[in-house]
Amino acid sequence: MFYFCVSLVLPLIGASIASPLKNLDKRDLPSFVRQYAPVAYLDSTEIYFPSSIAGQATHTHPEDGSGNNIAGAPSPLTLDNLNSLNNFASSGTNVYLTSDEGIEALPSWLRGVEPDSSGSTGSTIASLIITVSKPNNILDAFYFYFYAYNQGNWVLGLPALEFGDHVGDWEHTMVRFVNGAPTAMWFSQHSSGEAFTYSAVQKYNNGDRPVVYVANGTHANYAIPGTHDHTIPGLNLLAGPLEDHTDAGVFWDPLVNAYTYSYDNTTGVFTAYNGQDPTGYLDFAGRWGDNQLPDSTSGQIDVFGERKYVAGPTGPRDKDLGRSNVCPTSQSCSVSSILLP
Ligand SMILES: *[C@@H]1O[C@H](CO)[C@@H](O)[C@H](O)[C@H]1NC(C)=O
Ligand SMILES: *[C@@H]1O[C@H](CO)[C@@H](O)[C@H](O)[C@H]1NC(C)=O
Repeated sequence: MFYFCVSLVLPLIGASIASPLKNLDKRDLPSFVRQYAPVAYLDSTEIYFPSSIAGQATHTHPEDGSGNNIAGAPSPLTLDNLNSLNNFASSGTNVYLTSDEGIEALPSWLRGVEPDSSGSTGSTIASLIITVSKPNNILDAFYFYFYAYNQGNWVLGLPALEFGDHVGDWEHTMVRFVNGAPTAMWFSQHSSGEAFTYSAVQKYNNGDRPVVYVANGTHANYAIPGTHDHTIPGLNLLAGPLEDHTDAGVFWDPLVNAYTYSYDNTTGVFTAYNGQDPTGYLDFAGRWGDNQLPDSTSGQIDVFGERKYVAGPTGPRDKDLGRSNVCPTSQSCSVSSILLP
């Protein structure tokens, strides 16, 4: 289905009415969504940096789950027309944006852009903000981070036992605001994550903005630096067979170069705050990377049912934007008021 944003009348989410001619770029995005936007530290040994969201369409071609090209797909694919792929292969759910070189080739574009000393990725847009208004004066601000590649972890530290590599990597944090005040924060980690009260999380320069530590390769988001075992989703131990590493390595300020949207949970419509940022890709139902390599492919490894090369993820619309709790509906939610792993 196509959604065209013809309406310039945005729901006012507790924000003051900005002059439409002044500051047209960021019209009506509530100022607290910027004020409390998280900053990120990528790992000091990271090599797969934040990546151009638009570039993912440029460097890939759509295939169905059997590896056939999607005949009749628009060319070129852009962030404006990516949702037209929903007309193919099970309403788009069986579409894979497949890297032209193949995942095993590890082309250089998978490495993204290392933020400069100010935390900017320059002209590369690798992040977006989606606000969702909810009952009881709640506004959830989802901060999405995009990476062209996810390098999986080494089981027991053995490079030969690396699994969970995939092209395309969508991660997010979410800050919940009540009456414009931040109350709690969600950190996505693999298939689950952790929630903390806003007052518990580390703040950048002792200010308002929460700090996120991004794991090397997997880009899971943590509230504290160090080593995090994620063998059991949602339960982070200090050591174990499957470890994420984080440290205060490369500073990234995702706010500098972000697309900004509101999402109407009743209609399912995304609206660009500036009336210009692309929206088509937000409706794309398929995967942002290659399908899992068949077991017959040389290079594919099966470790107790886990594979080295797995399928790319679906996009922001599948991250439970309409959740009632701070955590996604699929998991029980405990919002911790202390920073423990
Ligand atoms: C981070 O990933 C890079 C690239 O694979 C690797 O060289 C480095 O050793 C990793 N760092 C840690 C702390 O595991
Ligand atoms: C968002 O919409 C979904 C689907 O209609 C619904 O289940 C959910 O309760 C809504 N969320 C809120 C916070 O109202």
